[in-house]
Amino acid sequence: MLDHLSLFPATKEQAVESRLRSYESWGRPYGVPIEGYLDRKNTMAGLEMAAEGRWTSWVLAPRDDPETLDFMCSCETLRREVIVYQKDNSDSTDLWKEEKIGYGVASVYTLPKNRGKGYARHMMRLLHWVLASPSAFPSPFPEAWGKAPAVPEGLGQGVVSVLYSDVGSQFYKACGPCPGADGWMAAPHIITTWSMETTLQESGPASTQDKWRLVGKDKLKEIIDGDSELIVEEAPTLESPDAQTAFTFLPRKGLAEYLYRKIDWYLDQMTVPPQQWGIESTAGYPGRNDFAIWTFELLPNSPKTLLITRLRCQKDALSEMLAQIAVYAKQIGIERIQIWNLPEGLKDEAGKTGAESAPAEEHLASVKWYGGEPSSVEYLHNEKFAWC
Ligand SMILES: CC(C)(COP(=O)(O)OP(=O)(O)OC[C@H]1O[C@@H](n2cnc3c(N)ncnc32)[C@H](O)[C@@H]1OP(=O)(O)O)[C@@H](O)C(=O)NCCC(=O)NCCS
Repeated sequence: MLDHLSLFPATKEQAVESRLRSYESWGRPYGVPIEGYLDRKNTMAGLEMAAEGRWTSWVLAPRDDPETLDFMCSCETLRREVIVYQKDNSDSTDLWKEEKIGYGVASVYTLPKNRGKGYARHMMRLLHWVLASPSAFPSPFPEAWGKAPAVPEGLGQGVVSVLYSDVGSQFYKACGPCPGADGWMAAPHIITTWSMETTLQESGPASTQDKWRLVGKDKLKEIIDGDSELIVEEAPTLESPDAQTAFTFLPRKGLAEYLYRKIDWYLDQMTVPPQQWGIESTAGYPGRNDFAIWTFELLPNSPKTLLITRLRCQKDALSEMLAQIAVYAKQIGIERIQIWNLPEGLKDEAGKTGAESAPAEEHLASVKWYGGEPSSVEYLHNEKFAWC
């Protein structure tokens, strides 16, 4: 029985302790300096994504000692802006939309000595009850779990939470808000990869340079803010014919920023430190907002990767844009370019430029929907920017 335990927002000391624990899995093996990782001020290095109460660390701890540093396990949540789209009925193509609140869940961690006792599963089952309204669930809070966790001010209003599972698709599915209800369900998650040599050959010479401009970090906020405005304004086309509902996160307010601000320690491994973090169309493409922004993945025993974190590109421009990215990537020693969940409308064009697509084997996008019981919910713009 785990009813003597509950979920609590971590104290500052507990949050630091949780990072001290997970450093052994996510810090030390990648050469991350410990002081940066511990973030003793508890501001997530001052990143905007964590500001204004967006970021919360959580612990599963005894009800009678909630502030103990000997807590059972921990995780983090990040509040984000969500746009929800809904069809009027199953035959309709018209969508109405609403701005809502959603959450990303990250850093689920149990110390090795505490593993296999059901702690992480119980923490994740309880987490739903602080992220969403009780009316989102098929039954009241289970009596066998004791009293429901207290919902801190500002929480409890989410329509969706997402996480990216590194422990397969079953563990989080089994963490439902009550017995018999599913937890986070794996969403489609396809990785598209261009190897550098193939991309350069298939896309032809970089003869369209005047239509494109590489951009440094200082330009990214402007691109991300403009992109978020466009996402709010536009009406998407849903890819799944069954989908009645769809949602997207907005990249602004620091969400897309994390992937180019928090990796400086990592870039020391590159012989040429990257100066360019995106590309945008210029006046050569009047009225267009085509762009890509990226981060770098430099993992042990893995090809050096330029990972596109958000892409807005019309079909006719994809191969040109890639050729430009590939020329730059090659200069700095990158071996491949990747993107998560390329839109359906760009897949053929990507194939012509030598891309290969395959289901993700790690970081599996997983969704828990709290906004009613539609038959199918489509996760739009499920690109790397939304992963944290
Ligand atoms: C994954 C983790 C959080 C589980 O914590 P825990 O408190 O031991 O979890 P529970 O006791 O509630 O549940 C254990 C279940 O998780 C499963 N599990 C644990 N690690 C797993 C893995 N790497 N892949 C698949 N399943 C895994 C166990 O098989 C067990 O399933 P069972 O009950 O059907 O036998 C813990 O192993 C951990 O901290 N690992 C390192 C960090 C990590 O990978 N976090 C998840 C990131 S998405």
